[in-house]
Amino acid sequence: MGLRKNPNNMNQKIFIKTFGCQMNEYDSNRIFDSVKKIGYEKTEKYEEANCYLLNTCHIRDKAKEKVYSEIGRVKKIFRSKKKPLVIIAGCVAQAENQEMLKREPYIDLVIGPQAYHKINDTILNYTEKKKKKIEETEFDAVSKFNYLSKIKNEAGKVSSFLTIQEGCDKFCHFCVVPYTRGPEYSRPFKQILDEAKYLVDSGAKEIILLGQNVNAYDNEGYRLSDLILNIEKLHDVKRVRYTTSHPKDMTEDLIEVYKTSKKLMPLVHLPVQSGSNKILESMNRKHTIEEYLSTFDKLKEINPKIEFSSDFIISYPGEEDQDFKDTLNLIERVKFINSYSFIFSPRPGTVAENLDLVEKKISIERLQKIQNILFENQIQLNKSLEDKVVDVLVENLTDDQSKTFGRSEHMTSVIFNGKSSDIGKIVKVRIKDSNRNSLFGEIVTNSNQKVA
Ligand code: SAM
Ligand code: SF4
Ligand code: F3S
Repeated sequence: MGLRKNPNNMNQKIFIKTFGCQMNEYDSNRIFDSVKKIGYEKTEKYEEANCYLLNTCHIRDKAKEKVYSEIGRVKKIFRSKKKPLVIIAGCVAQAENQEMLKREPYIDLVIGPQAYHKINDTILNYTEKKKKKIEETEFDAVSKFNYLSKIKNEAGKVSSFLTIQEGCDKFCHFCVVPYTRGPEYSRPFKQILDEAKYLVDSGAKEIILLGQNVNAYDNEGYRLSDLILNIEKLHDVKRVRYTTSHPKDMTEDLIEVYKTSKKLMPLVHLPVQSGSNKILESMNRKHTIEEYLSTFDKLKEINPKIEFSSDFIISYPGEEDQDFKDTLNLIERVKFINSYSFIFSPRPGTVAENLDLVEKKISIERLQKIQNILFENQIQLNKSLEDKVVDVLVENLTDDQSKTFGRSEHMTSVIFNGKSSDIGKIVKVRIKDSNRNSLFGEIVTNSNQKVA
């Protein structure tokens, strides 16, 4: 199972570079938890690495080229040094598999996101036995998580990711995820609770539950709502979050949790992609704007403090001016506090791959327009918090160690004059200044303040 130790492999250094979503970040940490067992230490200095691992993302075009240009960079850095072991992991590895070994001989191993349970054996077989280059891209989520649950998650951060679900069966017409992450798989309920407990015992105060469709979680009848309610029973957990959700899976039990939960944060990341029913249908999103707004209204009624963030795809094939206006109207109605927006990028193997594209000039204009509005909303919201007091979970000192960094309930970065002893605590901070991405403030010692 790859847990064997090999004294010859001791004192090796691995440099891991991660692209893409939080699930890749979680995976990169777990890959490191695994390779530690065969003697690897982590290094932040790529020049001193004997193993260079790229955890890749395939969601938009150029991702693949980014990988090859990164390898070109590595080659240059190591021109006069011993070549490191080069491993490509993640969604490009899954999509391109054998092709990568053929195109770039500098690559030694290619390992897909559901084969990380094999990483130690794959490395040892290659380095010790000098076997031929290997590509591991089977979909085997059960073995992956069974293996990972046996080695401790040692991320050790105040805010820790925990993957509960992987893969996707929804097949939106623009998206590669069902092909790179395979079918939907929900980890066993108890396995997740054990991992949450371990994370909390090692210092985590916030657990962020992850999945490509996190709210589709279903294991023997246990749903995401059950996980939230059980994880928040762990005494030292202060906050629980989850991402990324699909609007169709915002079931009543999950909505109800916002009434009963004490620790679930009032921010829902609920990607909508477009405000037009016509476009949603041609994307195969399986819900309407009316259904989306019904979820929005229900949650706002439960707690008006709940805010929404989203993802938008601009200029999906067939998007006309009216469809784009519908998206702007939705933004006006929901007032998303944070959003990601990208121009549609045709992906190999998807239904939308060969559809006629919206003219580039129009797409760029639409993207600029939507981003101006989304960014202005963010700036105004942050401005409205000036002179108010917000609850901040303190995560770390800033890079220059002069201030502390934490996040508000709505996930906004807050930089303030705390101390290292505040790390891991929730403190009250009076906001003095803000920009689009951050709030700046001073810690409040008198707790008798107006809280935003
Ligand atoms: N499962 C989530 C959902 O259903 O909304 C999304 C997960 S996907 C990893 C993250 C985001 O990437 C999507 O919400 C979408 O906005 C964006 N995305 C995916 N495919 C894309 C494409 N072909 N072009 C542009 N953006 C894309
Ligand atoms: Fe991609 Fe759609 Fe699945 Fe989200 S629900 S991961 S957008 S296919
Ligand atoms: Fe990218 Fe794969 Fe995540 S394609 S967004 S790394 S699931």
